[in-house]
Amino acid sequence: MKLAILGSGFIARFYADALVAQRRKDAITMVYSRTEANAKKFANDYNVPGYTTNMKECITHANIDAVIIALSNDLHLESVLACAEAGKHVLCTKPLGRNSQEALQMLEAVEKANVTGGYLEDLCYTPKFLKSLSAIKNGNIGEVIWAKSRETHPGPHSNWFWDKEKSGGGAMVDLGCHCVEISRNFIGKNIKPIEVMCWADTRVHPIDAEDNAIGLVKYENGAIGQFEVSWSFRGGMDLRDEVMGTEGTIWVNNFLRTGFDMFTSGKSNSYVAEKAESNTGWLFPVGDEMNELGYNHMFTDMFEAIENKRQPHESFYDGYIVNAILDAAYLSAATKRWEPVVITDWRGIAAKKETKQMTDYDKDFYLIKEETLPSGEKKFIIKNKKTGSIEVR
Ligand SMILES: NC(=O)c1ccc[n+]([C@@H]2O[C@H](COP(=O)([O-])OP(=O)(O)OC[C@H]3O[C@@H](n4cnc5c(N)ncnc54)[C@H](O)[C@@H]3O)[C@@H](O)[C@H]2O)c1
Repeated sequence: MKLAILGSGFIARFYADALVAQRRKDAITMVYSRTEANAKKFANDYNVPGYTTNMKECITHANIDAVIIALSNDLHLESVLACAEAGKHVLCTKPLGRNSQEALQMLEAVEKANVTGGYLEDLCYTPKFLKSLSAIKNGNIGEVIWAKSRETHPGPHSNWFWDKEKSGGGAMVDLGCHCVEISRNFIGKNIKPIEVMCWADTRVHPIDAEDNAIGLVKYENGAIGQFEVSWSFRGGMDLRDEVMGTEGTIWVNNFLRTGFDMFTSGKSNSYVAEKAESNTGWLFPVGDEMNELGYNHMFTDMFEAIENKRQPHESFYDGYIVNAILDAAYLSAATKRWEPVVITDWRGIAAKKETKQMTDYDKDFYLIKEETLPSGEKKFIIKNKKTGSIEVR
């Protein structure tokens, strides 16, 4: 696959690092950046044969099969529409839009042009995520009741993120988009998100948007997705997920305290890991950041999807649903009420909230709970099927 990258900033470099880290048959052949110096430096750093400061020229170049969009959020719509118009497959970073209206326009444009629209949601491709998801799909933890995802760090690295007009919001649209999609995968992408309750506030930074937020996303089958985001968390980047099922539990820690601790007196001044706040004392490096953040598996899925004319596991449709959930979260933060998730084009199933099958203790009682006490004694809490009285045996 011959690839163009639009943008030469933080995520463009992560993507390029992932694309050149292992021997791949896919190559970046063109880069677009606003300034010639940045375009040229990126091209030199990654052995990219072509560079330009003209976005349209980059997208329409004959030697390009797919375009990777690594631009600030305010430029996703314009650049995706240009790719669709040029008939190029397009892989866009997160969040797809600043809101669901933008995301829907992008979805409709790629579908009309019959090109692949891949949503570059890397955290849904980390090795730990992929293993968790397959465990859930294999029934290892039963039915998912609650899926929580947290992303917190001390705040982003470029000015445009902090400008609500350009970014579409604060920590919620920036980090919450990851968390929402992680929980949605665990609960089941074909289950409809129906409403959201959210708290968001600006606690620390002098900005208009929220720098801290927590939200609950209710799904049609009764499951709850929870997101926790912050741009004022101290101590690095905290990426953790928890899934509670009727038959099991999954805890995933993607970044800090993952079993790789290092102490240094600080004589060397080197990079530790994304958003690390210190490079002295006890540190939590990450073994292979590109792989552990999911970039490698993500690009493999995207390119295979294009080649095999199938949808990638994370598509523009997923990006649209994430934006629709976040729109409801913003509304709920303002109204302080549960707000409906407005999806104009639902492609999943119509699920019902299931009533759980009761476990019999005997013919007259249901079993609620059994527990072995420190004394070794076994206790059964039971419910009378006729009277409903709760008793112990
Ligand atoms: N884990 C992830 O998936 C992840 C991580 C970080 C950022 N992102 C996303 O990647 C995108 C870029 O973020 P970043 O961290 O690389 O930011 P960045 O500021 O480092 O880079 C932004 C790029 O956009 C270009 N740009 C900005 N304004 C422009 C304009 N008006 N015209 C032309 N080019 C312009 C900049 O020159 C730069 O090349 C955002 O959508 C962000 O949400 C994703």
